[in-house]
Formats: sequence, C-alpha cells, structure tokens
Amino acid sequence: MSRPRIVVTGRIPDAGLELLRDAGDVWAWDDDEPIPAAVRDEQLADADAAVTLLTDRVDDAFLDAAPSIRVVANVAVGYNNIDVDACRRRGVTVTNTPGVLTAATADLAIALVLMATRRLGEGERLVRSGEPWQWGMFMMLGRSINGRRLGLVGMGAIGQAVARRASAFGMEVVYHNRSRVDAALERSLGVSYLPLEELLASSDVVSLHCPYTSETHHLIDATAFERMADDAVLVNTARGPVVDEAALVTALQNGTIAAAGLDVYEDEPAVHPGLLELDNVVLLPHLGSATVETRDAMAELAARNVAAVLAGRAPISPVTG
Ligand code: GLV
Repeated sequence: MSRPRIVVTGRIPDAGLELLRDAGDVWAWDDDEPIPAAVRDEQLADADAAVTLLTDRVDDAFLDAAPSIRVVANVAVGYNNIDVDACRRRGVTVTNTPGVLTAATADLAIALVLMATRRLGEGERLVRSGEPWQWGMFMMLGRSINGRRLGLVGMGAIGQAVARRASAFGMEVVYHNRSRVDAALERSLGVSYLPLEELLASSDVVSLHCPYTSETHHLIDATAFERMADDAVLVNTARGPVVDEAALVTALQNGTIAAAGLDVYEDEPAVHPGLLELDNVVLLPHLGSATVETRDAMAELAARNVAAVLAGRAPISPVTG
C-alpha cells in the first residue's frame, strides 16, 4: 500500500517533521514567506493530510484543491483561520494544539501587563535613543499591579494560567466567560465571575483570552473603552479582531484608557498606523507561543494528530466547535 502524503504549508520544527516522516511521505514548504497559493494547491492535489499554520486560510478554495485530504492539523490553539464547518461537510478532521502553549502564552500576557503598566517599552526606547537620561524621582512613573484588579475575558486554559500568575503578583482577579466555570475551580483560582460590563468598568487591567468568533468580533469596541477607567490598561494576546483597533487608537489618543499591550492585530501583520505613533502602547509581533520548547511541542502534537487520523485512530486534540 502506498504511504499517505502529508503536506506541511510552512516551516515547523524538526521534532514535528520527524514524527510526520514516520507517518507518511512529507512535503514541506521551507521558507518563512507564506507559501504561494499555486504551489500549495499543486501539492495539495494528492495530499491525505495537511499541517497548517495560523497564517493559512483553510476554506473552500483550500479544500477544493485537496480532494483526498482527511485531516488538517493546525499548529496553533486558535483555529479561526479554518472554516471548520466546511471541513466537517467534507468529512475532514480538524485538530489544534491546546495545552502545550498555555504556559508560554500566559507568561507573555503577564509580560505585557508589566510592560504596559510600568512603561517598559518607553523606557527601552529612551535608552536606545541615545538621549541623555538620569535616574529621577518622577521619571517615567508607571502603576503598581500589586493590589489592583485584573479582569480576564475568557477563562479557558490560558485565562486560568494567567489568573494563577496574576495572583502571585498580588492582583485580585475577576473574569468573564461565555459560561461560568465551576465553583471549585473559581475557589482554587481565587477568581470571581462578573458580567462583561462590570468587569470592564471595575478592572485596572483587562486581558483578553477568548477565541475569535463571530460573537467576539470587536467585543472590545468604543463602547467598551468608554466603560473602562481612564487609568485602565488593555492587554490582547488572543486574536486581533476581538478589539476594534481604530477605536483602540482613539481611546489611547484621547486618554479614554491609559495604555495597551498587544501581541496580535486586527489585520495582522499590518498594524494600525495610529498605534505606531503612540508611546502608551506596547507592540509585539505575535510571540505568545514563541519559545523553542513550546514550538517543538506544538509541532509534535500536530504531527501526532496527523499520524492518529491517518492510522484510523481518534485524533488527540480534535476541534469540535
Ligand atoms: C497562537 O496564536 C495560537 O493560536 O496558537
């Protein structure tokens, strides 16, 4: 019997490629630039499996080019780049990489909380600028997070990991989620549930950890910023379009909120030009899961998902939503 053919649409760590090679014949795009659609479609023509990145759009056009595909393994926990319904209609299994990137992403969210509240981006830019500076009693004062309230929007694995870290920094943690988590988990995390409006109005820092769906599109818009305190900070390590980026620029310019820390953008990799001009926003290039260990683990999990489906077994982390 011929070996299954596996197409990998972008560069992934060797740890994943090695596992994939055990499961079939692998063709991998080996460039940091996105794969051109024509090359991708040519490779997909007789593919049994595809390993995709969050920069790939897996839609009807992708699936039309891949008539024999059985599994799409996204090397990301978020899967808003995949039309899951279209895959389901065609009997294509979709998998993602939950769990293995929880700690790295939660760490980055806390890093952004600290960067935004303590003005660390501004400080770094000052030193690099070569401008003279000297320690000063009132120089570049930020705000303490100890004793302040963190509002988490989304209480999945990453939200929970951020809650644990924030408690260690002395923050009081409240959360909003589609459905309230069970009381035992709330107690063990030391978090309390609030309706979104109340969370926005009462939090010193709001950090987003919800998936991007049609319901969360522009969840944080001009009205949400109006609800927030003028010394509040927004952190987004989830997906860009959860925030209305134009409204965020206006809110930061007008002092409707004090600062923001962003790892993701509405029209990624484009960044709203207004953000680039502001000192009170920290801008990172989508680094949430960017550690060597985490990316290895993500690639391995994606490869194990592919191997399972190709062998007729249940995938480890199927996308069911
Ligand atoms: C990163 O953004 C991911 O969804 O894994």
